[in-house]
Amino acid sequence: MNILVTGGAGYIGSHTIIELLNQGYKSIYSIDNYINSDESNYSKIEEITGESITYLNLDLKNVDSLRSFFKEYRIETVIHFAALKSVPDSVQNPELYYDNNLFSLINLLTCIKEFGVKQLIFSSSCSIYGNPEVLPVNEQTPFGIAESPYATTKQMGEMILRDFSKINPQVKIISLRYFNPVGAHKSGLIGEAFTKRPNNLLPIITQTAAGLRTELTVFGSDYNTNDGSCIRDYIHVVDVATAHVKAINYLSTMVGENFDVINLGTGTGTSVLEMIHSFEKVSGVKLNYILGERRVGDVETIYADNSKAKKLLKWNAEFNIDDMVDSAWKWQQNMKI
Ligand code: UD1
Repeated sequence: MNILVTGGAGYIGSHTIIELLNQGYKSIYSIDNYINSDESNYSKIEEITGESITYLNLDLKNVDSLRSFFKEYRIETVIHFAALKSVPDSVQNPELYYDNNLFSLINLLTCIKEFGVKQLIFSSSCSIYGNPEVLPVNEQTPFGIAESPYATTKQMGEMILRDFSKINPQVKIISLRYFNPVGAHKSGLIGEAFTKRPNNLLPIITQTAAGLRTELTVFGSDYNTNDGSCIRDYIHVVDVATAHVKAINYLSTMVGENFDVINLGTGTGTSVLEMIHSFEKVSGVKLNYILGERRVGDVETIYADNSKAKKLLKWNAEFNIDDMVDSAWKWQQNMKI
């Protein structure tokens, strides 16, 4: 089966390619424009797996180049990771997020239709639930008020896919709603932050511990939670990656409906302060952190009901918070930024 991974040099994309190769999928193609990823990840994938893949520098917003790609390679399955993903960046640059995340998806769907692609896995996010009233959230929980343009692009992405699926019954689609993917590959060769100034919590923690930042700010300490900081459902990136491999199997057994949504979380909520303390325990490094203002765009508490993923994908999250911080720390110590 020829599989296209968009954003294959990125964080979740690169980990997923490794799991696909480990499971015997050989014909993997990646397209990426490297705005938030690193081309050198392909050689690291090769180092880890002993396998190579075909990769191209291509921007999904360029529909002509995308058409040429699909014309040349007979792609049967697409896993679509490529997107901008920072909540605070999206608040500052909404037009950039709508333009990039939505037009990329539309161009991809145009090619999926034109070139007879049979299966699509879409990277969605728990941010589509907004600030949920009932926890944990399951897939029946309706879209909430999006707290950021990033979240709105994921809601709109799913709406576009639902409409597309209705008139394209030959294409089977799953939207995987990630909670908070963190951690790194056990080799220590690939991990999360491809930029010097990441926005996500765990890379900021590891950069602070490594002395690349003088301090870490906890965004908000007056939330209505056990310790006042926000609660998220952190999930190891390798667990997210293996779920994609299982989702390919599930797609091939899907009957009737050709569009489905599945939560990918561990089912456990962890606060920002608990994450910091787990890191301090695992690494033995004391973090210099301060309690600061709330960050615009954040939801207070969210964690998953993951029973649908367990049942349909026959998947389980294998790693706990300590495994997540341990792998992220190992990766941070191996790299230069
Ligand atoms: C959001 C999405 C998640 C998506 C991710 C992509 C939600 C609930 N989750 O994650 O599905 O994969 O975007 O980027 O919308 N924090 C600090 N100090 C820092 C940085 C972060 O306290 O310096 C806090 C944040 O306020 C938040 C938590 O850490 O409470 C996690 O933040 P982050 O790692 O940025 O992810 P989300 O925005 O929650």
